[in-house]
Amino acid sequence: MTLLEAIAARHSVRTYEDRPLDPAVRNSLLRHISEAADEGGLNIQLVEDDPSAFTGFLAHYGKFRGVRDYITLSGQKADDLDERVGYYGERIVLEAQRLGLNTCWVVLTYTRHDDRIHLSPGERLRCVISVGYGTTQGHGHRIKTYDRVARPAREEAPDWFVRGVDAALLAPTAVNQQQFHFRLNPDGSVTARARLGFYARIDLGIVKLHFEISAQPHKVIWQ
Ligand SMILES: Cc1cc2nc3c(=O)[nH]c(=O)nc-3n(C[C@H](O)[C@H](O)[C@H](O)COP(=O)(O)O)c2cc1C
Repeated sequence: MTLLEAIAARHSVRTYEDRPLDPAVRNSLLRHISEAADEGGLNIQLVEDDPSAFTGFLAHYGKFRGVRDYITLSGQKADDLDERVGYYGERIVLEAQRLGLNTCWVVLTYTRHDDRIHLSPGERLRCVISVGYGTTQGHGHRIKTYDRVARPAREEAPDWFVRGVDAALLAPTAVNQQQFHFRLNPDGSVTARARLGFYARIDLGIVKLHFEISAQPHKVIWQ
């Protein structure tokens, strides 16, 4: 599965089979986690066999079932922390999809277990991603129209820009808010902005990754 195929196949999955990660899959996942943490300057951990983080009232409200394993995303306070969490977290999500796993980003509907997360002084836990073998592959979400999230119009934009916007619209966003906007500038660079919304800067990092992958071979210059 290519990264493009992973973008199309990924949906949030909240119900998992009760089984540990296959050892080879686990090793690959840990490698992707460590690369993303290094490149993103983040503290990213795989927490295994901690089902009670997803069995309380909040998880029930979020409709989670059978979560054993999850990934925590933390970092030192910084203006761009949430955007990096989104960008590098989604890289792990897409690699997990290629490994045959399913995921769901989670900010609210889990119980924080500080004894399972190792934070250095000053580090903040921003969110987690449930990971495992889904009982289903999930389903597509409601998608905003191109015109609500991008300029110039589809007919006037180069193919790579349209591909990027379409892939951003497939991305996970908090409460499926899709509060982002892409603008192609006269010099060929792209401005991506988060609009007002709940955890919208994590969303921004996620959608920028989808945009970059799908615009290839064009190399996006962010403004
Ligand atoms: C930053 C972020 C936080 C999220 N938090 C939660 C959450 O707390 N509980 C939950 O059930 N889903 C959560 N989601 C999943 C979104 O609801 C989901 O991505 C969105 O509805 C789109 O559906 P899809 O991922 O299947 O495409 C979150 C997603 C993102 C990106």
